[in-house]
Amino acid sequence: MSTSEPREHELVRDNLMSLQSHVLAEEAQHPSATGDFSWIMSAISLAGKTIANKVRRARLNDVLGLHGDQNVHGERQQKMDVIANEIIMRCLGDRASVAVLASEEDEEPTILRRGNEGGKYCILFDPLDGSSNLNTSVGVGTIFTVLRNDPVILDASKTICQPGIQQAAAGYILYGSSTVLVVTTGHGVDMFVLDQSIGSFLRVKQGLKIPTGNNTYSINEAYRAAFSPGYQSYLDMVHTKPYTSRYIGSMVADVHRTLLEGGIFIYPPTQKHPDGKLRLLYEANPMAFIIEQAGGVAYSGLQRTMEIVPEQLHQRVPVTLGSPDQVELLQDRLRAEG
Ligand code: AHG
Ligand code: MN
Ligand code: MN
Repeated sequence: MSTSEPREHELVRDNLMSLQSHVLAEEAQHPSATGDFSWIMSAISLAGKTIANKVRRARLNDVLGLHGDQNVHGERQQKMDVIANEIIMRCLGDRASVAVLASEEDEEPTILRRGNEGGKYCILFDPLDGSSNLNTSVGVGTIFTVLRNDPVILDASKTICQPGIQQAAAGYILYGSSTVLVVTTGHGVDMFVLDQSIGSFLRVKQGLKIPTGNNTYSINEAYRAAFSPGYQSYLDMVHTKPYTSRYIGSMVADVHRTLLEGGIFIYPPTQKHPDGKLRLLYEANPMAFIIEQAGGVAYSGLQRTMEIVPEQLHQRVPVTLGSPDQVELLQDRLRAEG
């Protein structure tokens, strides 16, 4: 081989930073890290890959439609809600440092190990967000948050009631036209895409920042008459300006678009859901953590979402999140309504 010919490794231009290598490299920067978190992320990654496969095959495997039961919110469960829940419970349940698992689909948290048995983390999740959209092949997702387990509190339903500012990590997996994993551990937001051909999540972006200056709003306007005057006045304003609207109806997909392109996502209180529809602990808080880490803001009404002290696992809150410039326009009107 002549010296001018490129060496073999210079011809390989593939992205080879996997989620696993990324987490190990991050842990190496923190000498106190025990490696427990990398075990948790590997379980989440395995669950995500398994669910992505089930979602893609759902119609072929005839697992679309209702399961028959209602979940804890009185909502009809899809068969895929139950399947995704079971996959996550199995993947994370195996990990030695997991103390408590709590899911949208289960009324009570599951205690796996106490603090003195090595239970270090509680993981709360929405196994399949937007599942009512599955029938039409719209993007759906999984949302998760990792909390530290307080070994002194023995009542699991109390230990998981931590404000969002205490989250150790949070993320989501979007099962869309590609499978995307977005995660934060409080040091910025990183994004990974599943390369199906090698079965790995590969890093595509580090330190994601939410753009400003995008006049896009995302809200279910069908409920407009049920919104309070501040939200209605905001909608009046956007209708007179060069705004565009995008609403998928899967929180993960709507938040992902907002994170990448900027704009605002809103789920206000309505008559049907006077406290808002979305759940604080495993929908609003993880998304708020990601959006704030990307330079955005997240509120529930006028309160910063992550400062709310939760009272119970399935508590609901209003959600407003997105680019600071866009969110401020709504907050102004909510403040004016008092
Ligand atoms: P889930 O499928 O986990 O119950 O969540 C559905 C949520 C969320 O994904 C979405 O933002 C919202 O429901 C849409 O609600 P509307 O249909 O009332 O707009
Ligand atoms: Mn959901
Ligand atoms: Mn769900």
